[in-house]
Amino acid sequence: MSKVSVIGAGNVGATVANVLAHKDVVKEVVLLDIKGDVARGKALDSWQQAPIDYYSTRLVGTENYADTANSDIVVITAGVPRRPGMSRDDLITTNAKIVVSVTKSILEHSDNPIIIVVSNPLDVMTYAASKASGLGAEKVFGMAGILDTARYRAFLATALDVSPKDIQAVLMGGHGDTMVPLPRYTTVAGIPVTEMIDSDSLDAIISRTKTGGGELVKLMGTSAWYAPGAAAAQMVESIVRDENRIFPVCAQLTGQYGLDDLYLGVPVQLGKNGIGKVLELKLNKEETELLNTSASHVKSVIDKFDSMGLV
Ligand code: NAI
Ligand code: 2OP
Repeated sequence: MSKVSVIGAGNVGATVANVLAHKDVVKEVVLLDIKGDVARGKALDSWQQAPIDYYSTRLVGTENYADTANSDIVVITAGVPRRPGMSRDDLITTNAKIVVSVTKSILEHSDNPIIIVVSNPLDVMTYAASKASGLGAEKVFGMAGILDTARYRAFLATALDVSPKDIQAVLMGGHGDTMVPLPRYTTVAGIPVTEMIDSDSLDAIISRTKTGGGELVKLMGTSAWYAPGAAAAQMVESIVRDENRIFPVCAQLTGQYGLDDLYLGVPVQLGKNGIGKVLELKLNKEETELLNTSASHVKSVIDKFDSMGLV
């Protein structure tokens, strides 16, 4: 049984801990925040839910990294979320320092953990955690694709009036408006989605997916947490149970899709050692161009991070 630490006990971090506890697949979840009492309070509240919802996963709240010692998996959600009018990239100045310092603190107490980054701007913060940790590409990756794909699947389920359970999809690229949904690889109970919906409606759903995070920021004044928290917990579950599930994940590219030295969303297999394999789809010309545009955008923000001289 595993130990998972979640850094940042805000909206997303607390949801990751709570959803994970409900899955009952790990022995302990440590919730750490600079606001120690908030972390302790949310962990205690989630633990008091255990007798009602029947799980055994222990939850501990803390501000002390010693409590994260020997974590198998660490989920980083620390940092500021965006407010209306901000892009994810606007968060880099604040969040880069937080993610680098959090990563270093984790490694003072855990030797070789798997690190799942959630903080934004996601692709660049995953790159930051990778540089700050020096861990291998299979061990450091980011959550965005499961969330973006879930939004796409949810919008399709509404439009088609079917269960979201029956919609399978993959989406690639950076976690931002340049993300690349792939209708060619979208099915409804095995039926190509293009046989179920007209192209204008599908295009509208793709556009809405690309700005799906911003839609929620406008509604709530801060960014989403239920679906993001559940998405990160699903990644942890696939690792802990060694399920080898295939998810779109922000992973280090070392030549795949003709891209190098970059973190970007691609389909991967997730199992007990982290990323087992990056899947290389045969993209057509238009998809390749969209992926390259997304990669260039992420690269420009990575350059900004590099110029900050934090690692
Ligand atoms: P939040 O403001 O509710 O929580 C952030 C928490 O981080 C706060 O409790 C704060 O005290 C804590 N924190 C700040 N500095 C810290 C440090 N040095 N060490 C430990 N804890 C620290 O924000 P929320 O909504 O939970 O979002 C967290 C991050 O996740 C944001 O950057 C947001 O943009 C990102 N996000 C990413 C998603 C994705 O798909 N990758 C989806 C949703 C949010
Ligand atoms: C989202 O897409 C804020 O990145 C976060 O909801």
